[in-house]
Amino acid sequence: MYNNNNLTQISNVLVIGCGGAGLRAAIEVKLAGLEVSVLGKRAKTDSHTVLAAGGINAAFGNVDPEDSWEQHFADTYLEGYGIGDVHQIELMAKESPLLVNEIDKWGANFAKLKNGNLDQRFFGAHTYRRTCYSGDYTGLSILKTLIKKADFLNIPIYDTQYVTELLVKDKVCFGAMSFNHTTAERTVHLADAVILCTGGHTRIWKRSSSRKNENTGDGYYLGLKAGCELTDMEMVQFHPSGMLLPEEIAGTLVTEAVRGEGGKLFNNKGERFMINYDKERMELSTRDIVAIANYTEIAEGRGTANGGVYLDITHKNKEFIMQKLPSIYRQFLDAQMLDISKQPMEVAPTAHYSMGGLVIRPEEHCTSIKGLFAAGEVAGGLHGANRLGGNSLAEILIFGKRAGLASVNYSKQINAQIRSDIAINKAHDNINRFLSEGTESARVLQHHLSQIMWKFCGVIKNKELLEKGLQKVQEVKNMIKKIDVRIDYHNCEDLIQIFDLESSTISAQATILSALHREESRGAHKRSDYPALKTSLKCNYHVKLNQQTFDLDIYEKKISPMPKDLEILISQSKKIYDFKGKLIE
Ligand code: FUM
Repeated sequence: MYNNNNLTQISNVLVIGCGGAGLRAAIEVKLAGLEVSVLGKRAKTDSHTVLAAGGINAAFGNVDPEDSWEQHFADTYLEGYGIGDVHQIELMAKESPLLVNEIDKWGANFAKLKNGNLDQRFFGAHTYRRTCYSGDYTGLSILKTLIKKADFLNIPIYDTQYVTELLVKDKVCFGAMSFNHTTAERTVHLADAVILCTGGHTRIWKRSSSRKNENTGDGYYLGLKAGCELTDMEMVQFHPSGMLLPEEIAGTLVTEAVRGEGGKLFNNKGERFMINYDKERMELSTRDIVAIANYTEIAEGRGTANGGVYLDITHKNKEFIMQKLPSIYRQFLDAQMLDISKQPMEVAPTAHYSMGGLVIRPEEHCTSIKGLFAAGEVAGGLHGANRLGGNSLAEILIFGKRAGLASVNYSKQINAQIRSDIAINKAHDNINRFLSEGTESARVLQHHLSQIMWKFCGVIKNKELLEKGLQKVQEVKNMIKKIDVRIDYHNCEDLIQIFDLESSTISAQATILSALHREESRGAHKRSDYPALKTSLKCNYHVKLNQQTFDLDIYEKKISPMPKDLEILISQSKKIYDFKGKLIE
């Protein structure tokens, strides 16, 4: 039977999400002497951070001494096609060396050069070798290190809690409601400040590098309902290389480190086709260009029998592969009995990263709701229209720390704690409304939604597709009230899935709506009906939830101006290319 115990838990700061951003934020809070709790919906050792494989960027200049934070800034800004937040980018480029050194010293144990400095590998579209790494399991080593540190500091991590609602009164956030995955027991978490670190929404595409039940857009919906806005939701990064087989794990990431270490792409004619898309940078072009190249080769009939292209690293010997790419070696052996030192891999684009997210202020990562902060993939603005591989791990450490520190300052300066029984009761009602038997299954609808997104809002979009997609997502949304939700002893899967599905449909709508409004092609956003980039659309699209009608409203937002010194830097740097490698700016 459903257990409606009402537990209360109090801390200064509540962190929602136990991936890298959440843990780094929590560590900062604890180091400042405040009480912090972390809630997660996946086992803490298996959060999505483990899938960020290839590395973390920091302009040390250890391998290429010409590198500088300024060049990292320029590469990131240009890769984002001019709509990334310049201040966020500047903070990241300046602070990543500090945070990368810190995590290495805490135990991440990155690969070193003979002189003891951190080794740095090539990643796509970086001017220099800038990506520090642990083999091809960098996210995993960062996550393990953060867990060790959090355990050492006695930070409580509750990783069987599903958060259903943020508690808000008069635009001030004072906690969250959650239920326990296995007992359905509810907890009201009261806190001075809340930090959302809940990841993105790329699991809602059929072929995705995210796994079941992760990156379903939960944080976006929690934030929207609390009164926050979203930015750049149309900017969804398709990674060029996801696995194709077996079907159950199609989309699983084949790290960019394979290309960084010399991997080459071929079509079924044996042509190294990147020469037709970006003859200078070839396989190490920007992610959007490599993804569109792979997509085009497949769509135009030059793909493999299984619908991919070949990624070949067989010119490197097994010793090299085992040293630099051990996880990928094992991944192909386990999944396909394929020895990548002897045979090429088959890969195809996969939905990988949400570059959009909650609107935040760069320094503190605070939202427009007092006491509510956001860090990591759930936050928007840093990556603009495209993300440099290796920037997401830098982002979680830098802005996790900054959000943690800002929440501490906020908690110390408030003079009254907001509480509201009305908000708490509303959060109970929000769960209660789902507890009924019905005719539909959330799992089936989630699967249906992922097919809709792949077909109507995939790598290349157009008005007709997007409009159809929007209509179909609305049909899924309408079915939510008919879903069968049963709470059995020790099983709340139905409840988890219906909340995931609701967040996914709202995130899908925000994405399609934004994609419809952006009538151009820019970075990861490709429209066949508007194939060119328009200088007039150098803007962000913001989405908000109309709290009366529950519809999404969208409006155009001017990008913040570039400070003069940074403008000079950009003008001296590389230019923006379109998706055929043609120079635009
Ligand atoms: O390809 C990769 O290893 C992915 C890294 C990233 O998305 O930053």
